[in-house]
Amino acid sequence: MNLKIALLPGDGIGPEVIKEAVKICEAISKKFDHSITWQEGLVGASAIYKTGDPYPDATHEMCINSDAVLFGAVGDPKFDNNPSLSVRPEEGLLRMRKKLGLYANLRPTFTFESLLEMSPIKRSIVKGTNLIFVRELTGGIYFGKRGKSPENDYAFDTCEYKREEVERIAKIGFDLARKRSKKLCCIDKANVLETSRLWRKTVQSMERNYKDVEVSYEFVDAVAMRLIHSPNKYDVLITSNLFGDILTDEASVISGSMGLMPSASIGSQTSVYEPIHGSFPEAKGKNIANPLATILSASMMFERSFNLTKEAEMIRKIVSHSIEKKIVTEDLAENNKSFSTSQVGDWIKERIEKE
Ligand code: IPM
Ligand code: MN
Repeated sequence: MNLKIALLPGDGIGPEVIKEAVKICEAISKKFDHSITWQEGLVGASAIYKTGDPYPDATHEMCINSDAVLFGAVGDPKFDNNPSLSVRPEEGLLRMRKKLGLYANLRPTFTFESLLEMSPIKRSIVKGTNLIFVRELTGGIYFGKRGKSPENDYAFDTCEYKREEVERIAKIGFDLARKRSKKLCCIDKANVLETSRLWRKTVQSMERNYKDVEVSYEFVDAVAMRLIHSPNKYDVLITSNLFGDILTDEASVISGSMGLMPSASIGSQTSVYEPIHGSFPEAKGKNIANPLATILSASMMFERSFNLTKEAEMIRKIVSHSIEKKIVTEDLAENNKSFSTSQVGDWIKERIEKE
């Protein structure tokens, strides 16, 4: 099979973690007789510096004409501390999501037995956690009407949802729940927000088509607490854009490191696979960033975009071995015995070759 993949390394540690994921994709496709055609595009701050635009048209064209997109990270501290700038790196990511119609973001949270001690939460609580968020990605307060007064003493953002935007997320959630442990949690703030009541009503009306799935409706503030208190209780969780952004960062603590968490953004056009972590500018160029979130995102890409399950499983299995053998970057290391970004990538690559 020939796989046409667009790479958008972006900013900060993005290029370093993407480089390792490319190594792994190449090794896997060699093993299973596939070939990959790579193309590389600009996004984020690096795109602003070169073109003035965080998501240039050329990058969008490249994404549309690829079978899948592997994305690093965007963000640059030079932009963070200056709220008056008119263009920001993050806008590149948001425009890409909107223009590619990537309305759902799948963010799994899992644990590795050998890493249970790395979580700041007690072993007995995190053990066995295996859940997946379906975060709505192209609507809500991220994309609603917004504005500010000329005097800069007033500003507003609005959260809007249409029934169909909720339905398509709920459908993904119900279908996933069916394949997993048949439990779905709809997270909202229906005691206060009108959009949340729309979410709740919409999901309730779909329940009759999924009688085998047990649905719970929970308020976002309570879920924020229960995720830490009893993460094992959850399986598939569906929620709006902003709630999903916040809760998935929180959930990454369960696994022990944000550097482990992959994601898939899916919708009407080419899917995008990206780690949930940011551009981690402090680590840029130091060869210390954890490449596993991006490598696991590549595994999701093999499975979802190419239907290559064996390839995806082999990547997951060897990542899991690397963790057991403590071939890990400093975020996961014990007693200062850590490996560099490229050493972790090389180890996994060599193990794939030996399989
Ligand atoms: C994420 C990020 C983005 C978001 C930022 C970089 C715009 O935090 O993918 O979770 O808020 O969606
Ligand atoms: Mn986020």
